[in-house]
Amino acid sequence: MLEALGRKFARFTTNQVVRWPRAWPLFRWLTRRQFDRIAPVWDEMRSAEAFAPLDAALDWLDTAPSRVLDLGTGTGRAAFLLARRYPEAEVVGVDLAPAMLAEARKLTPPELAGRVRFEEADAEHLAYPDASFDLVSLANMIPFFPELARITAPGGAVVFSFSGGAETPIYVAPELLRKELSKLGFAEFADFAVGRGTALAARKPPGGVV
Ligand SMILES: C[S@@+](CC[C@H](N)C(=O)[O-])C[C@H]1O[C@@H](n2cnc3c(N)ncnc32)[C@H](O)[C@@H]1O
Repeated sequence: MLEALGRKFARFTTNQVVRWPRAWPLFRWLTRRQFDRIAPVWDEMRSAEAFAPLDAALDWLDTAPSRVLDLGTGTGRAAFLLARRYPEAEVVGVDLAPAMLAEARKLTPPELAGRVRFEEADAEHLAYPDASFDLVSLANMIPFFPELARITAPGGAVVFSFSGGAETPIYVAPELLRKELSKLGFAEFADFAVGRGTALAARKPPGGVV
């Protein structure tokens, strides 16, 4: 019952915030509280294939980023996947919910501890300088487009993945992602579907906005 309500709230929040980003402050506190509450059991709710669409998008990107950001990292599973995939990269996992970050830190494999760190922040407004990251991943996470464009370096990429495709509570349709990212200078796009999941990868031209 509570879980069903949480899923509905996440879907409602996503739809409102993607349409009207200025509405986010109205949802921030409840979103943090919701994810803090479910942090200890979050991993039990994830299927083994949850990140297969992210993996497929990374295959397509065929790059070796050195600065990687996982926004809305939760328990850090995508951050660990990214760190394993790019052994030279520094990976930052950012989340709003302290309890999620506590789980992520607890679950960090010792061999990744030197290259993966977790920070508490709101993706709506990040403290990182412009063009700080070569790759930004959002797995089941609400996008804040202007901030995403600001922190992604020229030639860099953003990957959105949704573990349950259009059934994912936090889901944004690929047409809408393309439209918003095109306005901000992203130029090359690719869609992926693996099992129930979907992903979209978008690249910024090397010279920046075209
Ligand atoms: C659906 S969970 C996904 C967690 C993880 N990426 C995964 O797929 O397992 C969404 C996560 O994004 C975080 N989140 C939501 N809005 C955020 C924001 N504005 N800034 C940072 N984190 C946010 C939540 O706290 C939560 O941990």
